[in-house]
Amino acid sequence: MPAFLLTHASSAEAWRPQLAAGTLWVAEVDGRVIAFVAASADGDRLHIDEVDVEQGHQGRGVGRGLIAHVIAWARDHGFARVSLTTFRNVPWNGPFYASLGFVEDDRLPALQTILQAEAAKGLSDRCAMVLTL
Ligand SMILES: CC(C)(COP(=O)(O)OP(=O)(O)OC[C@H]1O[C@@H](n2cnc3c(N)ncnc32)[C@H](O)[C@@H]1OP(=O)(O)O)[C@@H](O)C(=O)NCCC(=O)NCCS
Repeated sequence: MPAFLLTHASSAEAWRPQLAAGTLWVAEVDGRVIAFVAASADGDRLHIDEVDVEQGHQGRGVGRGLIAHVIAWARDHGFARVSLTTFRNVPWNGPFYASLGFVEDDRLPALQTILQAEAAKGLSDRCAMVLTL
């Protein structure tokens, strides 16, 4: 992962559109947010923009629970598919999403655009994944 990603986190403000759209969810422990997932609707597709679990709370099922919630929400709201982009070979990225039913599929132009923007930022070995509902 490029070093800049470790020091340039998105600001909370960056997620206002998803918050306003009702497609941002958090997990709390003792009233404190320890994880979030943000998604954006694009036609009949719900795209997961980012999911992060705070260090110290990772590996306890929080991420899996959040993604499962997003999938159930998308199904309930009539979406045809859920998509995301991720690192292909990081165990808790591509293989994790595959275990939730996502399959690698970069055919959609909108996803190709995201992958190209990520590549321009120096992110390599990225792929798009789609879950058909
Ligand atoms: C990726 C992330 C969201 C997963 O959330 P999490 O709460 O840590 O993960 P979970 O406990 O729900 O585990 C989900 C799966 O990830 C994998 N996993 C989690 N931690 C792992 C580790 N340290 N090593 C290998 N696999 C791991 C396992 O396959 C696990 O599946 P299981 O439930 O069958 O054990 C979280 O670790 C995170 O925020 N990481 C840093 C940022 C990041 O990578 N964001 C995603 C970019 S696409």
